[in-house]
Amino acid sequence: MTKPQIRPVSGAQYSRILGVGGYRPVRVIPNSEVLEWIDSSDEWIRTRSGIAERRWAGPEESVAEMSVQAAGKAIAQAGISAEQIGGVIVSTVSHFKQTPAIATEISERLGCGNAPAFDISAACAGFGYGLGLADGMIRGGNAEYVLVIGVERLSDLTDQSDRSTAFIFGDGAGAAIVGPSDTPGIGKLIWGSDGSQADLITQTQAWDTAFAKSDAINGAGEETKWPALKMDGQPVFRWAVWEMAKVAQQALDAAGITADQLGAFIPHQANMRITDAMIKALKLPESVPVARDIAETGNTSAASIPLAMERMLESGEAHSGDLALIIGFGAGLVYAAAVVTLP
Ligand SMILES: CC(C)(COP(=O)(O)OP(=O)(O)OC[C@H]1O[C@@H](n2cnc3c(N)ncnc32)[C@H](O)[C@@H]1OP(=O)(O)O)[C@@H](O)C(=O)NCCC(=O)NCCS
Repeated sequence: MTKPQIRPVSGAQYSRILGVGGYRPVRVIPNSEVLEWIDSSDEWIRTRSGIAERRWAGPEESVAEMSVQAAGKAIAQAGISAEQIGGVIVSTVSHFKQTPAIATEISERLGCGNAPAFDISAACAGFGYGLGLADGMIRGGNAEYVLVIGVERLSDLTDQSDRSTAFIFGDGAGAAIVGPSDTPGIGKLIWGSDGSQADLITQTQAWDTAFAKSDAINGAGEETKWPALKMDGQPVFRWAVWEMAKVAQQALDAAGITADQLGAFIPHQANMRITDAMIKALKLPESVPVARDIAETGNTSAASIPLAMERMLESGEAHSGDLALIIGFGAGLVYAAAVVTLP
């Protein structure tokens, strides 16, 4: 007797980003305000990182609220209704309630019905990781439209007395609707991780350690500090410049695209000097517009690529249908790069 066979599943042949949207918190923190916390200068921050100001979220601008705002714009641009969304992926490292996933609340607030909804933790590569998952879900026949959100409140994880990080991080949300396409709209994802370098960007201490210490306060009077992000800037910088330029080139090669065919280069907004070094390594022609959103937004980790993408499209620097090279990289260490068609 032949064994029963599962009916094959088939999805769309290709997928693409159909809409993108961002949310930037109202409160602007200029470098002058950062100088009230650390010994530095506006000139040092601008020349070493490219950052002039960043946005920090207020109490009402929660991870869920910023996500809903960004997603609403992406859904509108995609021209679909929230009920059509068959998957909600939220990438964040700064949502402090681990369960249930914040994606379920966001899905409910948007009206995505019973769409599967889950969180991922992939730091600054989170948007690329989410895009890869969405592409697989759509082409694998498990969803027609997927909402991918990158959202952070990194101000909650910033030690304002730490000179090496206090000026870097910002808050915000970026969202994209990924859906079926007649032509390839998301090239092969070049993604990976290197856990041997996990200590380079990490939390100062785990939450359970912090809580154990706070318990100890009662008995031993030990002082505990709210965990924050700490970073060994120089090795991260070197890794980003040398290794990530190779990953970006692999994404171009895998997509069969040359740098001069790009309509935009949208790297993770980690540091303007990293972006400039990558431009050199990739021999990117001057005619290709480059995302420089970091100047006004700081480093918003998972939100940085969709926020930068939205800004380039809105300002007219990049155009719908153009090819963009995106690359995210950060704590893990993790990375993800691909060539995508802009919505
Ligand atoms: C953080 C970063 C901007 C620091 O720049 P840097 O050039 O590496 O700075 P260094 O830590 O080597 O310090 C250089 C000098 O500036 C000083 N300095 C450090 N922080 C400073 C600050 N906030 N303001 C002014 N001076 C500062 C140091 O004391 C040092 O002085 P010295 O030469 O007299 O000893 C840079 O390392 C970086 O961007 N790294 C990658 C970060 C990143 O991309 N992270 C996100 C990945 S997701």
